[in-house]
Amino acid sequence: MDALRQKYIDAIANAADESSLEDLRVQAVGKKGEVSLKMRELGKMTPEERKEAGPKLNALKNEINSALAAKKAGLADAALDERLRTEWLDVTLPSRLRGQGSIHPVSQVTEEVTAIFADMGFAVAEGPQIENDWYNFDALNIPPHHPARQEFDTFYMHRDKDDERAPHVLRTHTSPVQIRAMEKTGAPIRVIAPGRVYRSDYDQTHTPMFHQVEGMAIGKDISMANLKWVLEEFCRAFFEVDNVELRFRASHFPFTEPSAEVDLRCSWDNGQLKVGEGDDWMEILGSGMMHPKVLSAGGIDPDKWQGFAFGMGIDRIAMLKYGIPDLRAFFDSDLRWLRHYGFSALDMPTLHGGLSK
Ligand code: PHE
Repeated sequence: MDALRQKYIDAIANAADESSLEDLRVQAVGKKGEVSLKMRELGKMTPEERKEAGPKLNALKNEINSALAAKKAGLADAALDERLRTEWLDVTLPSRLRGQGSIHPVSQVTEEVTAIFADMGFAVAEGPQIENDWYNFDALNIPPHHPARQEFDTFYMHRDKDDERAPHVLRTHTSPVQIRAMEKTGAPIRVIAPGRVYRSDYDQTHTPMFHQVEGMAIGKDISMANLKWVLEEFCRAFFEVDNVELRFRASHFPFTEPSAEVDLRCSWDNGQLKVGEGDDWMEILGSGMMHPKVLSAGGIDPDKWQGFAFGMGIDRIAMLKYGIPDLRAFFDSDLRWLRHYGFSALDMPTLHGGLSK
């Protein structure tokens, strides 16, 4: 028994890890371990022999079990010490530099426009950029072969010869959202619809993709006077310049009657664009009283309701407000330009907090 004791106490002391410790436990005090087998032999002994051997074997078993437990705890402590020694990090190190993005002027202006019109009770509506030609044209009183269809430089989606579906276009304006919003909400209604539109056109003030915001208000007695007030109020709030000057010019759109285009007084002195001064006029929107046929197409009875609508170029008013002379640069994704004209992500425009800083 002494030999057994010596063997296991030494082996436990020298065990290098938990798995060899477990092997030793099985060998010594497991079901078929050496000490356990010895205990089984107790039954064959005389009562006197058993009286002497029994307590000794029990003491040996207890001693081995406590040695195992103590060693196990020791190994765990050592493992933890080792982890603490090797796995450390310096939380005082400066962090890696990350590129700071900026908000594009178009996004900024869209938020500003939304904040101003929301204050006047307009909700935001949306429609698809790939539109079928009924929403983009027919419902807006532009039937096939109407000359206005040719005036828009429309991008048509490819169609196979035997394709039965209605022709689809990249929407040439946000006006189809008028129809979708009327279908969805009915009258009365007051919405704006900002978004991307597409026309095949490219020069200093035109890009094939640009942005408009549609506005529409339908009620029992909405008039041209309300349209004029809303637009003037908008321009005063948006440009934050006292001397904003608007020019309402009689015009023609198939979907409004009467119609007016609105220009803003500005100057283009040596590449610098300024609002409210100079002898130039920049066209910023088309507008008018909604045509009865358009109300009908949207499911609204033109004998009971009337409304105004306008479509404004977001990029145009961004150029004017922030003095950006060339529209094409908006969509070049030149980081230097974006850093110069971009806005901080933390400057959300609100009427009370100031639209832009
Ligand atoms: N959809 C017209 C355009 O893109 C603008 C407009 C909208 C005019 C609403 C009148 C009413 O030119």
